[in-house]
Amino acid sequence: MEISKVIVPAAGLGTRFLPATKVIPKEMLPLLHKPIIQYTLEEAVRSGIEDIFWVVNSKKKSIEEHFDYISEEFLETFRSDKKEHLTYLNKIVEKVKFAYVRQHEARGLGHAIWSARHVIGNKHFGIMLPDDVFIGQNPALAQLIKIASQERASVIAIQEVPLSHTPRYGIINIKKQLSPNLFQIRDVIEKPSQTEAPSNLAIMGRYILSPRIFDALEESTVGVLGEVQLTDAIQKLLLSGEKIFGYKIQGTHRYDVGTPLEWMKSNIMLSLRHPAYNQEILQFLNEIDREFTVIESKAIQFSKQRNT
Ligand code: UTP
Repeated sequence: MEISKVIVPAAGLGTRFLPATKVIPKEMLPLLHKPIIQYTLEEAVRSGIEDIFWVVNSKKKSIEEHFDYISEEFLETFRSDKKEHLTYLNKIVEKVKFAYVRQHEARGLGHAIWSARHVIGNKHFGIMLPDDVFIGQNPALAQLIKIASQERASVIAIQEVPLSHTPRYGIINIKKQLSPNLFQIRDVIEKPSQTEAPSNLAIMGRYILSPRIFDALEESTVGVLGEVQLTDAIQKLLLSGEKIFGYKIQGTHRYDVGTPLEWMKSNIMLSLRHPAYNQEILQFLNEIDREFTVIESKAIQFSKQRNT
């Protein structure tokens, strides 16, 4: 099965990051020294993708500009140690074809995917959500492509989450476990409460889907929160008898950058794993840890004094 196209939805409003996202797209916020969306591009290219369709709107021009090819002449204006980041970006951009698709209204993830229906054709294709960043030797999307080709079916990335987190995710109900990491899915449920969740296996932002998803999205009525949900369309495919698998991505770290708190944690975690930053960040964390321990113990002493 040949999978060469991906849709990257990047037309959301990013309201959880306001006011930072009033002018700057969420996808352009930095994760260490790169904008979030560049990690998506790198993973797609390393997974052998040939065509990337970015779903954008009129406020996302900086995404297009970030991926513009930089001319030799302009490169000359940078010092050589700075230049290498840009020549690297040029090299990846060269490896893949881009097209930008407009989502006219931010009506949810399902609607964003549906907006790109004209460019996909009749083959299975990938979806990558930029605010789920996967970093590791074996790219997450490539792992899904392998399973999709093996099973000749749709595959969704899944990951175990604490039961208390199920209201944040789409959760799968398992039909059959085929191997320690591969599951056939019976149902998908969008943001179930802890008690309603049929498992703790949550859908992450990577999918390989059959083009039949567009028919399911077409007839999609308004789902949770009044938006068109991708999960509802996947559930329709399952009900129509289509086989869909869930695969636990192996050997990569996942960074959630969808909310300010998770984005901050991701920056810290990634810097601790990055050779250019880890020593100094570790030292800094140790320093502030000591400082906070002192402040905390002072606060305890103070409250004890007040109570006596
Ligand atoms: P999110 O669910 O994180 O939504 O979208 P959001 O709108 O960006 O952020 P909040 O909830 O307002 O804070 C996941 C991905 O889907 C895209 C987003 O750009 C993001 O990359 N998306 C979401 C669209 O392309 N269109 C939409 O209507 C909604």
